[in-house]
Amino acid sequence: MSALLLIALLQATPDAGAERLQTVAVMHSAMHAMVSLQPYVASPEVFRDPANKEAIATSLLLLTKVKHRFAAPGRQDPATEALAGLFGGHVERARGEFTSGDTEAARAHLRSISALCFACHTRDAVPKDFEDAGKRVEALSLPPLRKAEFFATTRQFDRAAAAWNVGLAVAPKLEADWFEQASALRQYVAVLVRVKDDRQATLAMLTRQAARKDLPLFFHRTLEQWRLEAREWSDDPFVAGTATAAALFAKAKTMVEASGLAKRALSDEGRFVSMLRATGYLHAALEKEPRAIWRGEALYLLGVATAATLDPLLWELDSLYLEACVREKPHSAIARHCVERMYDRAWFAWSGSGGTNIPTDVAQLLGELRQLAK
Ligand code: HEC
Repeated sequence: MSALLLIALLQATPDAGAERLQTVAVMHSAMHAMVSLQPYVASPEVFRDPANKEAIATSLLLLTKVKHRFAAPGRQDPATEALAGLFGGHVERARGEFTSGDTEAARAHLRSISALCFACHTRDAVPKDFEDAGKRVEALSLPPLRKAEFFATTRQFDRAAAAWNVGLAVAPKLEADWFEQASALRQYVAVLVRVKDDRQATLAMLTRQAARKDLPLFFHRTLEQWRLEAREWSDDPFVAGTATAAALFAKAKTMVEASGLAKRALSDEGRFVSMLRATGYLHAALEKEPRAIWRGEALYLLGVATAATLDPLLWELDSLYLEACVREKPHSAIARHCVERMYDRAWFAWSGSGGTNIPTDVAQLLGELRQLAK
């Protein structure tokens, strides 16, 4: 154990251990719920079957505990709080849809829920994997890429990596298989960059994948961009694992500014690896030093960088950071910056060739935040 870690443990509040145990207990029931839901989720007919209604409803109810666990405002880092809030919203929607008989919508929401398990567990580096003593995921007999996703959802990253390596070595047969592989690769990269903080493994994996002869153009182009950023990372002397909160913040700030993303509402696939790094550094910086004077700016940068690393199912996430920035630092220059960014993103999200259709609640929220920032 490193000396720093030891000091951190000794300085931890006496009930930190009990707090952690409670989190772990809630997580075990979340895992239990996700494993139990798996056989039903796989098929619309099975999911709809009244004979399974009670079992599904029980699992959905178990999932509400995750939000409650993280509900107390101000106790967590902003990322955990934002993710727990989104998680609760999706679970409530899924439950409502399920109860009213809209089982397909509920089933679709479960995809977002598992994306949120993944997003929360991969928000920054974790020292150790969860040991699935019962090997319950193994027992689900899923195809390799689905199995990998499930391992990653339940915080078993080494097992996920092994399954990804198997799944990504298979030549796709159908067009849909390419999209599935591309999506698996995004998760794999997110784990290598944010959870493992392992530049050599990232570069090696992307180099291996980019060398495949059978790649369609869209996939090849994306891989090449990611590989270039991984190469830049491997030449970068910055070491995140031992950096102070201020150094992590400064590094992330330089990276986000260099990306030019603050000036555009669109995301940029070519910045995926560097923005994953930046978000990881910002999460870590905010966790290490929650009351730093750069907190508002860190939330702003997190909003900008998150938009470039976003899972399409979780498109609201970046604006939650921006909203936190305004609420935590009202009537400040950084709050005004955050509101402007929210307007840019909302305009982008809700406009099309048919005009702009911002939902009333979104417009109301923007108005409220603009007042708060003034
Ligand atoms: C808001 C953030 C958040 C969300 C959402 C979340 N988790 Fe977790 N999860 C955590 C944290 C924090 C830990 C780490 C607890 C620790 O080890 O200190 C954890 C740990 C775990 C563990 C490991 C427990 C152990 O014994 O080490 C499992 C399994 C798990 N989560 C499953 C899930 C599943 C399944 C979902 C989705 C249904 C989920 N989690 C959603 C934050 C979250």
